Amino acid sequence: MTKPGRAEIDRIAEATIAALRAPSILNTQPWRWRLATTHGELWADRARQLPGLDPDGRLLLLSCGTALHHATAALRAAGYRAEIERRPDPARPDLIARLRQGSPIDPDDELYRAIYQRRTDRRPFADEPPAAAVVDELRAAAERHNVHLHVVPPDQLTALAAAVAHAGAAEQTDPGMSADVLTWTTRSRDDRDGVTARSLTAPGRRSIAPRNLSPARPPSLEPGPGQDRGTVYALLVTDADEPADWLTAGEALSDVWLTLTARGLAASPISEVIEVAPVRLALHRLLGGVGHPAIALRIGVPVSDADPVPPAVRRSGTDVIGLP
Ligand SMILES: Cc1cc2nc3c(=O)[nH]c(=O)nc-3n(C[C@H](O)[C@H](O)[C@H](O)COP(=O)(O)O)c2cc1C
Repeated sequence: MTKPGRAEIDRIAEATIAALRAPSILNTQPWRWRLATTHGELWADRARQLPGLDPDGRLLLLSCGTALHHATAALRAAGYRAEIERRPDPARPDLIARLRQGSPIDPDDELYRAIYQRRTDRRPFADEPPAAAVVDELRAAAERHNVHLHVVPPDQLTALAAAVAHAGAAEQTDPGMSADVLTWTTRSRDDRDGVTARSLTAPGRRSIAPRNLSPARPPSLEPGPGQDRGTVYALLVTDADEPADWLTAGEALSDVWLTLTARGLAASPISEVIEVAPVRLALHRLLGGVGHPAIALRIGVPVSDADPVPPAVRRSGTDVIGLP
């Protein structure tokens, strides 16, 4: 093996900078990067795990998966495949991945550019549904990670709405779960994390209500005229339900989300149906007992002339990326 040169390490460093923009549960950004002399290491930051909502670390690993995939999108834009060793050391389970520059490819910056355009858009979407060909592309994006995109058919939408309502009510009455939401929606500006009122919106007119992430402050983003009538609801589904699956589900989530962003669509995750165990089980049954739901997503066409959602804050590279 030839020794990685300075340029390779610089490319990995740039990839970790792009990965700062990855989406995460309640914008906890539960990761750290360490640059070694030959590769980058992605570590889970357990201090940022949510004890009430995420005792098993599912959403933490999903979030780390989005960061890992964002980094690979940046490497591809620079003209290289990513070489990834996932959870390489059983003695150190929080070492999520080692990332190296792989073989050269034709530079492909479509998903990389989408990193800086992507937002969680919680507003109701337009009546026009996403094009079927794009939904097929999203399915393919998930399958690249052996994860399946199950588009919820119309006859299951009532069951999904009931699952969302039930999970939301359960979380609001559970002291540990509601404390997590309160903590991460009232962070100070200096923390550069958490969800702020300016990315949250009132429900508006729609049949599946958005999660209440505003226990302390009213949402300040206008919902606009959309009614979610064209919105597609989908589940990312894994074959097994182990930490390795949660990580790849996160990579698939990022791939799907960046792909739909590149096609002019928008999305927001619905993870309360995963956090509340009986509801997660009900969705597993809805899938006929085949496959494990890792996260739900609403995907739609943004209402025309809608203002862009303001970018959510992120911690800086100096806080998150350790140098060799
Ligand atoms: C694993 C995961 C679960 C999430 N769950 C929800 C959710 O249930 N409801 C929601 O509105 N946003 C959810 N989000 C979106 C995050 O709140 C969002 O990514 C974060 O606040 C940063 O904002 P941004 O995506 O606009 O950059 C989730 C994101 C991830 C990665």
